[in-house]
Amino acid sequence: MKDYKRILVTAALPYANGPVHIGHLAGCYIPADIYVRYQRAQKRDIKFIGGSDEHGVPITIRAMKEGVTPQQVVDKYHAIIKESFEHMGISFDIYSRTSNKVHHETAANFFKKLYDDGLFEEKETEQYYDEKAKTFLADRYIVGTCPVCANSNAYGDQCEKCGSSLSPEQLINPRSALSDAVPVKRKTKHWYFPLQNYEPWLKEWIIEGHKEWKNNVYGQCKSWLDNGLQSRAMTRDSSWGIKVPLPDAEGKVLYVWFDAPIGYISATKELTDKWDDYWCKEDTKLVHFIGKDNIVFHCIIFPAMLKAHGNFVLPDNVPANEFLNIEGDKVSTSRNWAVWVHEYIKDFPGCEDVLRYVLCANAPETKDNDFTWKDFQDRNNNELVSIFGNFVNRTFVLMHKLCGGKVPKLHEDILDAEDKWIMDEIQNSKIKIENHLEEYKFRDALYEVIDLSRKGNQYMQKKEPWIVAKSLEENPEVQKSINNTLHLCLQLTANLAVLINPFLPNTARKMLNMMKVVNKMLDWENAGKLKLLSVGYSLKAPELLFRKIEDAEVTAQVEKLKSGLVKPVDNSQLTDDSKKNEQPATSNLKPAIQFDDFAKIDLKVGTILKAEKVEKADKLLKLEIDLGFEKRTIVSGIALHYKPEEIVAKKWLFLEVE
Ligand code: 2FM
Ligand code: ZN
Repeated sequence: MKDYKRILVTAALPYANGPVHIGHLAGCYIPADIYVRYQRAQKRDIKFIGGSDEHGVPITIRAMKEGVTPQQVVDKYHAIIKESFEHMGISFDIYSRTSNKVHHETAANFFKKLYDDGLFEEKETEQYYDEKAKTFLADRYIVGTCPVCANSNAYGDQCEKCGSSLSPEQLINPRSALSDAVPVKRKTKHWYFPLQNYEPWLKEWIIEGHKEWKNNVYGQCKSWLDNGLQSRAMTRDSSWGIKVPLPDAEGKVLYVWFDAPIGYISATKELTDKWDDYWCKEDTKLVHFIGKDNIVFHCIIFPAMLKAHGNFVLPDNVPANEFLNIEGDKVSTSRNWAVWVHEYIKDFPGCEDVLRYVLCANAPETKDNDFTWKDFQDRNNNELVSIFGNFVNRTFVLMHKLCGGKVPKLHEDILDAEDKWIMDEIQNSKIKIENHLEEYKFRDALYEVIDLSRKGNQYMQKKEPWIVAKSLEENPEVQKSINNTLHLCLQLTANLAVLINPFLPNTARKMLNMMKVVNKMLDWENAGKLKLLSVGYSLKAPELLFRKIEDAEVTAQVEKLKSGLVKPVDNSQLTDDSKKNEQPATSNLKPAIQFDDFAKIDLKVGTILKAEKVEKADKLLKLEIDLGFEKRTIVSGIALHYKPEEIVAKKWLFLEVE
């Protein structure tokens, strides 16, 4: 392995056209933050770069539909996203944005250098143009009938019904998703980056040189390279973005995927005058944390751009995660099937570490994974509360009860097999966790931390100091054994604070406070040590690290998700048609009712046996339901939202009012 002097970590720049959801956190921001916090605790020279991606077609479309400027759209979402990250403890050294001047200059200069070196191909092609909206249409904004399955709402790049990959030319009766106008072909000139010229080098660099990359990442790169690369347009017709820095390029901007990754360089420039140490010196370890949909851009296109430009380091690793589904279904911002981070923060104040825990313990590291509220509750109640929190709490309570609130002495002469076992476990855990973290295996690393606390509980259970204490009167010597148990449990608690810190920083801080020690104790070199707390030192009363999460809280979240009560926040990619599915915003809620009114309501879960449309009533479905104790036929105004075949055999919640 190379001997690196400094580490530069980047996390994908989220589009500033909507807030972030928990899929974003699990995919890249939480693993990146754990890695960075761990490296900081190792006292390594590391910088963590983030920011908002503020260009691209979806932002302009959203602005057009809302009747505001693109700058207003990005200002709004940049602020929301930044705040969500801050609340979740994502500890960027800088969180910048690509509408900044320094970024415009950096990206334009980058483009100009490639242009001056003759590395672009200039091509004139015909592309679809919307004469009504006066704009060229990106593939996604052309809709029409799928030639494979006849779906009349297929997109110009893909049919979501049959999954076929399409080009706009293949659509039957194409129309603009913006104005419904029939698009016309217009000539336009763009600058293309000939990726095929970099293919031999990319093959050597990735296929031969980076066999250690995660299977999902390596496999995707190999398949792209095996299929052969082609020239890609690096400019677009638009008024929003970074102007192409050439004289004959009126109305042209850089392609968002050309400028966005350069945003990592611009943000580093904003952060430090020494930015070129991080970007240009060979002994920098550059790591890009991303989600799987960004792999080709970070492993193939951006490295080829950096190589073409020269003088830049290349990524040492790109540990991309797969996707996180929610309650068995893919995240969809247009259907509002998502758990929004800013909503979570409001609904579960003080529980940021719980979400960090669940999203790491269940991270989609090797395959797509599912987030369910039940699993969220179980992991909190059965792991954080019952194992980790319980161990720390018991240790503190017993130390106050049996050892006068001070760290008791260790009597080495009477250490028994169990004491030695837990001492070994403490010492061995450091290296196991460290190896997992260095290899980007965050789930395994976190598992080891929790497992160590589980072992702490086992040890305590075997030693039973509260039982031993019963014989103190007749044999005061047993105090020594009690002291040993609590001494080791306290040293284990201090170790747990060091080890949990990269994952759950708020929890580690609470533990420091209980132990009355300073931040420095969290230095990674302290992990595995058995003398972190000095004998005779008095400690505070225990503080509750985690609270139980009640059934009602998670039921409410599932209902909120299913009823779509959260306002659909990212509809920039919606066609007019799909916008019909929008749900009312939370602000449309009726005023709260009195308890007496509530008591009149019966909540019943029933299975829908049969559902059919009611003739001449667009909004109504006739439902036959089984409530367990009786069958009923009711009529419900949900026909615009659900097709009969979608809801049959499913369980629904029914309200009956007295
Ligand atoms: O997929 C996305 O959300 C992109 N905005 C990620 C950009 S990452 C980097 F290149 F800036
Ligand atoms: Zn189709």
